[in-house]
Amino acid sequence: GPVGLTDGFGRTVTYLRVSVTDRCDLRCVYCMAEHMTFLPKAEVLTLEELDRLASAFVSLGVRKLRITGGEPLVRKGVMGLIAGLGRHLKTGALDELTLTTNGTQLAQFADQLAEAGVRRINVSLDTLKPELFRALTRGGDLAKVVAGIEAAQAAGLRVKINAVALKDDNAAELPELIRWAHGRDLDMTLIETMPMGEVEADRTDQYLSLTALRAELESFWTLTDLPLSTGGPARYVKVEETGGRLGFITPLSHNFCEACNRVRLTCTGTLHTCLGQEDASDLRAVIRGGADEAGLIEAIRHAVDAKPKGHDFRIARAAGPSVGRHMSTTGG
Ligand code: GTP
Ligand code: 5AD
Ligand code: SF4
Repeated sequence: GPVGLTDGFGRTVTYLRVSVTDRCDLRCVYCMAEHMTFLPKAEVLTLEELDRLASAFVSLGVRKLRITGGEPLVRKGVMGLIAGLGRHLKTGALDELTLTTNGTQLAQFADQLAEAGVRRINVSLDTLKPELFRALTRGGDLAKVVAGIEAAQAAGLRVKINAVALKDDNAAELPELIRWAHGRDLDMTLIETMPMGEVEADRTDQYLSLTALRAELESFWTLTDLPLSTGGPARYVKVEETGGRLGFITPLSHNFCEACNRVRLTCTGTLHTCLGQEDASDLRAVIRGGADEAGLIEAIRHAVDAKPKGHDFRIARAAGPSVGRHMSTTGG
């Protein structure tokens, strides 16, 4: 078969994140500006185009696909795309097909996701306080997300909770959130806020170093390092007292780019080979320009070869965002 995808630093790319929409039914304050301009339909890839691109990566050795957004489950017809991509699980070409979601639509889609071959999903949840949830998401309903998580578990999906650590908003609540998650057999990952795109909130004020938080957790819990790695940014520990798994994603206080295995495709067909850099390749132009499979594969190889060495996120008030695009265009 074809030789896998490698970049100029010898890293093998086996993981593609696919953003299927830039839209979301929530407006998290650290992710989106209050008034976002969303992309016109013509710019957005059709579901067929998304399948073609994702499948080309699979043919090049990508073993894991993660569907993201915006909120992936608000894209019309997304279940058809996901079920279709599930064929690569059946042939053995793909190890994992998964999703990162805000959970609001999960009650409706959990069973279909499980049927499509999805085994694990990540759900974003920063607080268990309904009022704070409403404020952080600009209008979201916490009960819907909790019901969605329960539906996912009932459908047999393994669920990991993502919480962005925000100094003034949820920092004090995080131990309680971790205990809640572990009590329900949910894995949990904490994320440092990354300076992507302009938002109203001041990320300098909100930034909380997870290195410091970890030290605080260790004043009352025993954290044992786990060898587990997803080739991604998270470092995992076991919390001995809860028996649960806890991940730390620390792009600012600890860089992890050396072992990076991933690239990301936006819903407009732009390939970003690094979350924290502006590098971009227009794969939509390639396919809408009439390229055949060989031409597409050549374009992908060329883009991946130029994957940057790493990000350079910094929280500095004067510097502004490290990258201009919002997290919602690539889903992280
Ligand atoms: P795995 O696929 O299991 O590794 O999950 P994940 O934690 O990478 O995926 P998820 O979609 O849940 O993302 C959680 C957080 O990790 C988000 O805030 C992403 O922006 C962030 N993230 C994912 N990949 C990268 C990366 O390559 N670099 C950085 N800096 N952050 C990333
Ligand atoms: N920094 C860190 N994480 C972010 N997310 C969205 N925007 C940011 C940001 N600026 C998180 C969401 C979700 C994941 C895909 O990315 O909360 O869990
Ligand atoms: Fe990889 Fe870039 Fe993410 Fe670093 S920031 S882990 S190089 S994608």
